[in-house]
Amino acid sequence: MPIVGPQASRSPGPTTWPGSIRYPLPCTRHRLTWLSFRRVVGRPAGDPIGRSTLVPVTTALPLTRVPDPAAAPALRWGILGPGTIARTFASTVLTHSRQHLVAVASRSRERGEHFAGEFGIPRVHTAYEDLAADPEVDVIYVATPHSHHRAQALLAIGGGKHVLVEKAFTRNASEAREVLQAAQEAGVVALEAMWSRFLPGTDVLRQLLADGALGTIVSVTADHGQLIGAADAARLHDPALAGGALLDLGIYPVSFASLVLGQPDTIRATGTLTPSGVDEQVRAVLTSGGAEAVLTTTLAERTHNTASIVGTTARVDLPGDFYTPVPLTVRSTDGATSTIDPGPISGHDGLVYQAAHLAQLVADGRTHSPALPPEETIGILTTTDEIRRQVGVVYPGD
Ligand SMILES: NC(=O)c1ccc[n+]([C@@H]2O[C@H](COP(=O)([O-])OP(=O)(O)OC[C@H]3O[C@@H](n4cnc5c(N)ncnc54)[C@H](OP(=O)(O)O)[C@@H]3O)[C@@H](O)[C@H]2O)c1
Repeated sequence: MPIVGPQASRSPGPTTWPGSIRYPLPCTRHRLTWLSFRRVVGRPAGDPIGRSTLVPVTTALPLTRVPDPAAAPALRWGILGPGTIARTFASTVLTHSRQHLVAVASRSRERGEHFAGEFGIPRVHTAYEDLAADPEVDVIYVATPHSHHRAQALLAIGGGKHVLVEKAFTRNASEAREVLQAAQEAGVVALEAMWSRFLPGTDVLRQLLADGALGTIVSVTADHGQLIGAADAARLHDPALAGGALLDLGIYPVSFASLVLGQPDTIRATGTLTPSGVDEQVRAVLTSGGAEAVLTTTLAERTHNTASIVGTTARVDLPGDFYTPVPLTVRSTDGATSTIDPGPISGHDGLVYQAAHLAQLVADGRTHSPALPPEETIGILTTTDEIRRQVGVVYPGD
């Protein structure tokens, strides 16, 4: 999809500033065109205040194809592991979609009942096996430590349930293959809850990439760092729970690079470990064709959490936190700038899109998501396996 260059007109109308005001022009069903302004060097005679140094530029952006999550047909969900992220998931699903939360499973009755009470969930199971066997449940959301995802996803699939598995999908690629194979054989959906993939802005970015609107991609950068000590979240520092920055935070930059560049040809990684033996911070350089991705992650500080894609004809900048619904800025090399609307749902409420996406897949009789196909989930974990190997992180039972 071409980014349209400067227009002939040099009369931008009312005084305005680059990037501060955008006028929607008539749009077709598939495309929305924004009028923005580009400052040019020099001030033509007869323009004492410099208005005409702002040259109108139109940039054609595709519309997102991500529907309102409230439009997705309802499924009956069971929550496996009522921890931190399960709480956010439950809240946004109840606020922004028609999905039903019908059961929760916790190893502790007290935790399960507390969670059920908070979200009006009718049934509490104190064994994960009972949730998998619950005939009133269509789909299970696995929100436990990475070390347990394989076994619990297999449990859900064995019970004939669809399964949405928190990122990182499993500890390693071999476990992911096993889960996805089982889902295929059972005819159910097993989807990685890499929620950024299902956001409205990501779909616009995907279309720009598919249409070659950025030209040849030269580089990708992506960063995710949070200050998380062992006292804040023991899970992240525990090798037995497959902790570490990479699988918890770095998985977002790795997934982002995969979205843009596909599977890397080469990987070079360095990192430092925590006293407990998981990766505290990692820097990885991935090459793919002529392009390079520079990815960083850390548990030692909150960083900018931004990302960018540089192409030969345009670049895209994602402000922090790049993996949430944020306005993406598209800048073409001729100076035109446009912003991709992040949509009406903000912050971690964006988790709802993955639930709606899975529900729509089921309604459509599909088991593979085009937004995150099984082979890409395996590819992403193949990359993290190699990064971990180079950095020296091995989990018990890896
Ligand atoms: N999408 C996001 O933005 C996001 C954010 C944070 C985390 N995550 C992901 O979500 C998953 C869970 O993270 P979290 O931060 O929510 O974890 P958490 O708060 O520690 O909760 C994990 C839950 O897993 C259950 N669990 C089962 N076996 C466990 C074990 N051996 N040790 C500890 N907990 C166990 C526990 O539930 P019961 O004991 O009650 O059964 C616990 O409540 C991870 O995959 C993580 O990467 C995603």
